[in-house]
Amino acid sequence: MEHASINLSHLAKSYRKHEAVKDLNLEVNKGELFGFLGPNGAGKTTTIKMLTGLLEPTSGSAQINGIDIWKSPLKAKEKIAYVPDQPNLYPKLTGWDYLEFVASVFRIPNSQFQSKANELLKVFSLTDQANDLIESYSHGMKQKIAICGALMSHPDVLFMDEPTVGLDPKSARTLKNLLRELCDGGMTVFLSTHILEIAEQMCDRVGIIFEGDIIALGTMNELKREDHAGESLEDIFLELTGGEDQQAIISEISDDGDAK
Ligand SMILES: Nc1ncnc2c1ncn2[C@@H]1O[C@H](COP(=O)(O)OP(=O)(O)OP(=O)(O)O)[C@@H](O)[C@H]1O
Ligand SMILES: [Mg+2]
Repeated sequence: MEHASINLSHLAKSYRKHEAVKDLNLEVNKGELFGFLGPNGAGKTTTIKMLTGLLEPTSGSAQINGIDIWKSPLKAKEKIAYVPDQPNLYPKLTGWDYLEFVASVFRIPNSQFQSKANELLKVFSLTDQANDLIESYSHGMKQKIAICGALMSHPDVLFMDEPTVGLDPKSARTLKNLLRELCDGGMTVFLSTHILEIAEQMCDRVGIIFEGDIIALGTMNELKREDHAGESLEDIFLELTGGEDQQAIISEISDDGDAK
């Protein structure tokens, strides 16, 4: 039987008494570009950390290609790559050395490493900085070298937490196009984002998480059909996650200002 690429079954995480993620059930299929949206503190990073084997679920399970990430972590982790929201890179390595290190971990033959690294550096305009120390990189450059590292091993499933934060428009566009191509080639991508435009433009399906629950799930067309005809993803998102209340408060604050 063909397994879903990513399968979450009753996945939950509590930090002491606080239920950060509650009973998530979700399947993401091979080749899908899945967008995980939600306001600050909704549980996105917590979920991604459970799916990548970094944070143990309080209950429930997660599988990658049918392999339980907590029961067979090594086997499952061979299949995945993860770009965290704050990449923790080795500051005293050059970009090139970092990619070489990743290649050695994944036992990628040297000839293959060379061409792959050059390709990735070129696509993200990092070729000229490849021999500089990572500590000298800007935030966006660090993010890009982390993305290059994640793609070195050509993972089956790629997790990215807020991948476009820190990227300039050209790099964000490059990433968007690259992810689309990789998914068309069969890679599965699970990314979290606050940038609704990106989700709307590039994701095959989106899930909106709010206070640890998935409160909406589907393609853009499906989300728009459910009482949201003609609305943008931003409208739908704010409606579902209560952003409209804030708008009322903002109006009130600015009215106060006018009264003075
Ligand atoms: N190590 C921790 N200890 C205690 N509570 C935590 C911890 N990490 C996260 N939380 C709580 O869990 C909830 C979900 O946090 P999480 O980081 O998963 O949110 P997020 O959706 O990634 O938010 P953001 O968009 O700001 O990145 C929040 O209420 C947060 O305060
Ligand atoms: Mg987060």
